[in-house]
Amino acid sequence: MKSLKGRSFLTLKDFTTEEILALLHLSLELKAKKKGASYDASLQGKLLAGKNIVLIFDKSSTRTRCSFEVAAFDEGAQVTFLTNSQMGKKESIEDTAKVLGRLYDGIQYRGFSPAVIREIAQHSQVPVWNGLTDDDHPTQVLADVLTAMEHTGKDPNQLKFAYIGDGRNNVSNALMIGAAKLGMEYRIAAPKELFPDESLVASLAEDAKLSGAKIVVTTDPNEAVKGVDVIYTDVWVSMGEEDQTEKRVKLLKEYQVTMDLLKASSNPEVLFEHCLPSFHDLNTSVAQQIHEQFGLRELEVTDEVFRSSHSVVFDEAENRMHTIKAVMVATLTDLL
Ligand code: CP
Ligand code: NVA
Repeated sequence: MKSLKGRSFLTLKDFTTEEILALLHLSLELKAKKKGASYDASLQGKLLAGKNIVLIFDKSSTRTRCSFEVAAFDEGAQVTFLTNSQMGKKESIEDTAKVLGRLYDGIQYRGFSPAVIREIAQHSQVPVWNGLTDDDHPTQVLADVLTAMEHTGKDPNQLKFAYIGDGRNNVSNALMIGAAKLGMEYRIAAPKELFPDESLVASLAEDAKLSGAKIVVTTDPNEAVKGVDVIYTDVWVSMGEEDQTEKRVKLLKEYQVTMDLLKASSNPEVLFEHCLPSFHDLNTSVAQQIHEQFGLRELEVTDEVFRSSHSVVFDEAENRMHTIKAVMVATLTDLL
């Protein structure tokens, strides 16, 4: 496999099965290194020493921002969290990308339109990492698959995921792309209005054929979860879609992940995953508002499932850091 040095990480579509597996393997080695376990000797020392990284967030974040920062610090890189920049206001995206590319070794971008991150990548001449856009969330998938591998002991091509809820959002799209590349079975249960974009599904057919992946889209959550390893959900309303709240609550009420749904998998060991943040209780201002408006106390997942022994959501959150570290190390050095 050719080194990934210099490559951007905009979507898993751009990577081969072998490259994604190598990133997962590197994540495990870097995790072992951080935990003080034995790891690949070639990874000794500060792998990103002397590197400068800039993080741009046009949407909120806890995990992604902190994962990039901690991962960079662990390996000796310096980080700028850029707020209030001129980009898109007084300076074009192109000019900003050219400037940042002169100063930094890598750029993380989280925002709305995928066109913006593509433009940054086109003009900066340094690796650009997608920390979430309206249509994709590729670093999330590495953490999700790694967590499932660790808990089941299976290889990615043996894993079966069922995603319940908004079947056309960034997280589901990214999981579907990852599944197609890695030979997983990926079942989406969503109301018809929230089925994934047909052109995205069609664009993955070739990858799925090559890897042996199976992509299924259904309206029936009970059918989707049969025999799966992981039941996955995400918020019903993604960042930037807040005006859709009423519509989504109506469409997705029947798609809540409950203990009964976990039982319908017939897998007593079934895992529950969620990219987080999650509305599983009333302890957030947004959940309070929705409660006042629609009377719901829990949205995409019940508090019981979220806090159950099936739930691996905090392992998954930790794995964001190990996998993001792997993406930076792989694209900024020739270690892979
Ligand atoms: N899962 C995830 O991307 O979390 P943040 O929005 O907190 O970064
Ligand atoms: N689909 C969610 C994911 C958050 C990590 C959003 O875009 O808001």
